[in-house]
Amino acid sequence: MKKKISGEIIRQKQIATGIYSMWIATGLSEEARPGQFIGVYPKDKSALLPRPISICEVDKDKRALRIVYRVVGKGTDEFSHMSAGDDIKLIGILGNGYDTSITKDKSAVTLMAGGIGIPPMVELAKQLMAEGKQTSIILGYRDSETFLSEELAKYGNVYIATDDGSIGFCGNVIDALAYYKLTPDIICACGPMPMLRGVKTYSEAHDIEALISLEERMACGVGACLGCVCRTKDTDPHSHVKNARICTDGPVFYASEVDI
Ligand SMILES: Cc1cc2nc3c(=O)[nH]c(=O)nc-3n(C[C@H](O)[C@H](O)[C@H](O)COP(=O)(O)OP(=O)(O)OC[C@H]3O[C@@H](n4cnc5c(N)ncnc54)[C@H](O)[C@@H]3O)c2cc1C
Ligand code: FES
Repeated sequence: MKKKISGEIIRQKQIATGIYSMWIATGLSEEARPGQFIGVYPKDKSALLPRPISICEVDKDKRALRIVYRVVGKGTDEFSHMSAGDDIKLIGILGNGYDTSITKDKSAVTLMAGGIGIPPMVELAKQLMAEGKQTSIILGYRDSETFLSEELAKYGNVYIATDDGSIGFCGNVIDALAYYKLTPDIICACGPMPMLRGVKTYSEAHDIEALISLEERMACGVGACLGCVCRTKDTDPHSHVKNARICTDGPVFYASEVDI
């Protein structure tokens, strides 16, 4: 059973409007994989539930984890006011993460991410590079205020799509594939639901595998409340229903496995 534990903030800085990067000293780094997440507890007692935030980077030597988050509500606002030396309560490591072994026989591994789905791509791209993979990384932003794109360029070929066309391709990450003449043979994706639906449709039309991370609303984060279920194609052998808990069975699923 996962327990609430303490970590210590090593450093925090704002990297774009409303977006923060925080390094936390914690032994959870030892078991962390790309695509997994931690629950971060606000101190405010009226906000009891841990906030699920993806692992952006892992430094096993320094026993540290990095998260990158957007301020959207009470919890994330509170985190943004914390600084080096502060104690922070965490639960983890949560979720399944990306299984990088499925890229073994693939030559055109493509990572696709939009908005606050971009942070988990850093550790994933880093790990794939360490495994000898050359990746294409397509990043979707609203406008020219990008974040993490320069860091990601150290680990793969970065292609940018923006909603307003201020940099890169004007449009979404799916249409950007054709614009940049990319023909993936496997996709790992994270981002808003409309984007993930587009990835699922694309992967089915091109008969390729896609792993998608569903960052939907969660409550307990540990499989207890059923507050995060999604519809699956197959019936679960234990519950006998076509459901999966995103927090424990996911957040990463084969696109073909889930109805989204
Ligand atoms: C697996 C996973 C990974 C995520 N990774 C990141 C990340 O790396 N960076 C990032 O900025 N955001 C990420 N999110 C979204 C993040 O969890 C929410 O933005 C955050 O919980 C909002 O908390 P809040 O208190 O500021 O907002 P509020 O709206 O005040 O939150 C109220 C409640 O709703 C829940 N909630 C609200 N929005 C979401 C959401 N989108 N997903 C899940 N629960 C939500 C909160 O946990 C809380 O219990 C992730 C979500 C999931 C499920
Ligand atoms: S959030 Fe409670 S079961 Fe997933």
